[in-house]
Amino acid sequence: MDSNTNTFKRRRIVTIAPGKVILFGEHFVVYGYPSLIASIDKFFNVKVNFSPPTVDEITIESNLGFKATIQNSVLTFPLGQEDTYHEIIKKLYSVIKYLMTHIGIDMRSKSSMFIHLDSEIPLGGGLGSSSAFCVALTAALYHSIDNKANKDKICSESINAEKILNRDTSGADCSICTFGGLGRFDRLNGFKKISADFSDYRLLIIDSGVAHDTFSMIERVSEIKNNRPNDFKNLCNKYSNIYDQVLSCLEHREIGNIGELLNRNHELLANLSLSNPILDKIINICNSEGSLGSKITGAGGGGSVVSLLHKDDVLVIKNILKRLDLLNLKYFFAKIGSKGLRTACNDKPSKQI
Ligand code: PMV
Repeated sequence: MDSNTNTFKRRRIVTIAPGKVILFGEHFVVYGYPSLIASIDKFFNVKVNFSPPTVDEITIESNLGFKATIQNSVLTFPLGQEDTYHEIIKKLYSVIKYLMTHIGIDMRSKSSMFIHLDSEIPLGGGLGSSSAFCVALTAALYHSIDNKANKDKICSESINAEKILNRDTSGADCSICTFGGLGRFDRLNGFKKISADFSDYRLLIIDSGVAHDTFSMIERVSEIKNNRPNDFKNLCNKYSNIYDQVLSCLEHREIGNIGELLNRNHELLANLSLSNPILDKIINICNSEGSLGSKITGAGGGGSVVSLLHKDDVLVIKNILKRLDLLNLKYFFAKIGSKGLRTACNDKPSKQI
């Protein structure tokens, strides 16, 4: 729909946003501390087709196998679809509704919308699946009204949208999913790219198989902060010290030394009750076989572990993977620093097809 001329356009918009890995500083970033974050080569792809309306209708379809139709704000699911999907769809729809209102898309007199979601990022794995969705959808909806929104605007609006899913989000995830690369993020200064060469190293990401809920993990940390303020302050000070050493390693190209700092950051997260037996087990496997260092990445309580390996430590890598396979755990090697948000738009003639 072209909002300026009030004529219908059959328009197809494709947006792609990368997932992310938090290398340092999850949770501490919520309280204003800096974090080190990177995009990864796993992507969330959103395709939105706008067509002339027959009715006010939105259809959502995902490669995970779920589907829903929304007419006059009423959600309808295909018969027999699993209930667990319905909760996900309700959350997605609340983000869609928020964005449509804030971006100014009025469905009543305009087009119907078909949203196809195709994600390579594991759901609930702490790898930025919900932020990549918010970023990619925000970009698609801005482009639908011919708004030349730049990445800064898309990023800040997607952070607002993500607040519907996680009220206390720091904004780190949407920032890295928008801009891509490797960099530092803090709440005051936003995202700033850092250049570093990780080419001699491999980042192994292991899915614990336990989906996590970011909001309840943030609540858990908040309770510790309120009930044990001195302990919390102490952990924050230790984190600050770790972060300074990380920056120094990056500056001096001592990437291998980051491993030990990952372990120390993990200890702080474990002290905040964010680890669990399966996460501890994965970290123990990686470190006992000779990884340079490992930690939870993301909110914890489940989700994923990130482990740093030297690419020439072939035997170490082989032994770790063998033990992970015995536990049937899923893993992949992430390339960090992939491109941020990308958008393509294709208008067709204004007649109904
Ligand atoms: O939702 P996750 O697992 O990607 O974790 C987000 C990181 C937190 O620091 C826990 C929250 C935030 O918004 O920064």
